[in-house]
Amino acid sequence: MTNDPLLQPYQLKHLTLRNRIMITSHEPAYPEDGMPKGRYRAYHVERAKAGVALTMTAGSAAVARDSPPVFNNILAWKDEVVGWMKQLTDECHDHGAAVMIQLTHLGRRTRWDKGDWLPVVAPSHEREAAHRAFPKRLEDWDMTRIIGDFADAAERMKAAGVDGIELEAYGHLLEQFWSPLTNDLEAPYGGSLDNRLRFTFDVLRAIRKRCGDEFIVGLRYTGDQDLPGGMTRAEGMEVSQKLKDSGLVDFLNVVKGHIDTDPGLTDLIPIQGMKNAPHLDFAGEIRAATGFPTFHAAKIPDVATARHAIAAGKLDMVGMTRAHMADPHLVRKIVEGREDDIRPCVGANYCLDRIYQGGMAFCLHNAATGREETMPHDIAPAATPRRITIVGAGPAGMEAARVAAARGHAVTVLEAADRPGGQIRLTAQDERRREMISIIAWRMAQCEKHGVDFRFNTYAEADDILATAPDVVIVATGGLPHTEVLSTGNDLVCSAWDILSGDVKPGRNVLIFDDAGDHAGLQAADRISTSGAAVEIVTPDRSFAPEVMAMNLVPYMRALQARDTTFTVTWRLLAVTREGNTLRATLGSDYSDIRRERLVDQVVVNHGTRPLDDLYFALKPHSSNLGEVDYEALTSGAVQQIRRNPQGRFRLFRIGDAVAARNTHAAIHDALRLLKDL
Ligand SMILES: Cc1cc2nc3c(=O)[nH]c(=O)nc-3n(C[C@H](O)[C@H](O)[C@H](O)COP(=O)(O)O)c2cc1C
Ligand code: SF4
Repeated sequence: MTNDPLLQPYQLKHLTLRNRIMITSHEPAYPEDGMPKGRYRAYHVERAKAGVALTMTAGSAAVARDSPPVFNNILAWKDEVVGWMKQLTDECHDHGAAVMIQLTHLGRRTRWDKGDWLPVVAPSHEREAAHRAFPKRLEDWDMTRIIGDFADAAERMKAAGVDGIELEAYGHLLEQFWSPLTNDLEAPYGGSLDNRLRFTFDVLRAIRKRCGDEFIVGLRYTGDQDLPGGMTRAEGMEVSQKLKDSGLVDFLNVVKGHIDTDPGLTDLIPIQGMKNAPHLDFAGEIRAATGFPTFHAAKIPDVATARHAIAAGKLDMVGMTRAHMADPHLVRKIVEGREDDIRPCVGANYCLDRIYQGGMAFCLHNAATGREETMPHDIAPAATPRRITIVGAGPAGMEAARVAAARGHAVTVLEAADRPGGQIRLTAQDERRREMISIIAWRMAQCEKHGVDFRFNTYAEADDILATAPDVVIVATGGLPHTEVLSTGNDLVCSAWDILSGDVKPGRNVLIFDDAGDHAGLQAADRISTSGAAVEIVTPDRSFAPEVMAMNLVPYMRALQARDTTFTVTWRLLAVTREGNTLRATLGSDYSDIRRERLVDQVVVNHGTRPLDDLYFALKPHSSNLGEVDYEALTSGAVQQIRRNPQGRFRLFRIGDAVAARNTHAAIHDALRLLKDL
């Protein structure tokens, strides 16, 4: 019997949880037709198999039609949800994991132009900045209806066999009642704290009446809105106590802060560069004050911090949610004493940002997450071991090497630089994005375990590759910045990479032309403005940095606004000319023929990369497939069989930015998808 505090069982009423690690509720936007079907089930079952004690499914499963699915939430108001949830629950139970589901009414935190186009409702007309809908103020019949909807949805979940439910209060309808900022109703549902809590207790009583006292019901709520005029810490403590004293709930799942704006959400769910476990002590205070079962998650990405949270008595169950997106086998690796093998969550928040902008949560550096039906988290050995030569040790090359080596192939990696990492190494130079380097470091450690032969400082030519006598060659050489976008003055500009690498020193008065709209442009702006320079970011897009999604934008804005950076949208840099010691930048617009001019001393262009593909084209005639990829086989998980050149001595593939400028996830996805079947 282990004495690891994390691996001790926990008793919640009649339910024995096998250890102290849970996945908190998070909607990955995987439902199909609003239901948790195959993809959804496979995602949770993978984590159940690997030992997580409790998976809180859904995120904000909607109890009512007028809580439309703003990020493809589960529709808990439909009866057909019972069958799908039962299948998911049964399969997770088969592997020893407990399953609960989070239910909610989003109130104003949604949009009226989703689902059935019903007006969104709240206890006031105040709009939520993040979702923008102006709500209808709830009437008595709305409240009666929604209380009934909660009870119906809870009953459906009980019928599906889940171990319990959690109501989502923070930011959603329940908390909209609690907070004076969003509730201007008269008594009995507005005014005093007890009045503002009345709706929640009505809902809880209705659920108890329908589902009984044995059914496990918890509440996820903020203990401190941390917002002027909002619910204070003292009120949060009072609410915690009242929830316990009510006898209507079985656990408290505590968060801290508010989610009505992107910066608020980002403080509540911190991302890379922000402090780890910032609200753990606060959750611990609530547990100490109430002596009631307390759950909590907020950037506890590593096992040591999670262990501390339990050992120090701050929590009963510790949430490691994004940590499980990055590595679903986290618990198994703890049990097996293989903590070093855990793929680290680097806080990139590609997962969460994507549910709004990209449609589905994918992990930046685990391409199998959310694709469990087709992509493996455990790599199977190949039937025939081969010699695989990989050129380039950026994210694509490193993932290819990791997967190929895990399949038992003999792998050689040739890299021009003296270290692995490619673009990630450049990104991680920024203190705030330092965690990114773990994407490479983890792969390097995995490759070393599998005996991959790395040859750094090796600028590979075709002959060098042929000398390794490969069966397969993977070109993962990445790309180089492309800045030649001007009618005049291409020689007068530098790239965002030049700034990030330190090859070019920041100027004093700098114009950044960013039409790639990705991290590189903002990172360069951050670096330049830190030096005290004046910075203007110009983009032809409707908003700047469209590829840097909502929560990822927050730290940049905090830094850049403080330094008075200028953001100029809908203008395009056309030309740069030298005038003495200054540069004259001419801006044009896609909307008209208007021109504007700027006098600056440095112009930085961020326009993505162009593939570094000379080697690929040099090797192509020597290959048996002439570089061709069978997309049908690639996407259906079949073996690549194309043979175009009988004289070809090896098969040739290229992946990542060596094909076209994309992002880290695309590079890693390219590699896993191809290599798992080679
Ligand atoms: C893709 C995604 C969707 C989420 N959706 C919800 C949600 O619907 N309801 C909720 O209470 N929390 C949601 N969360 C927040 C998580 O439950 C958790 O609090 C957060 O990720 C911080 O914990 P972590 O650092 O362990 O990931 C979501 C998180 C992610 C990554
Ligand atoms: S995308 Fe980033 S934050 Fe999300 S799970 Fe993956 S590593 Fe963690």
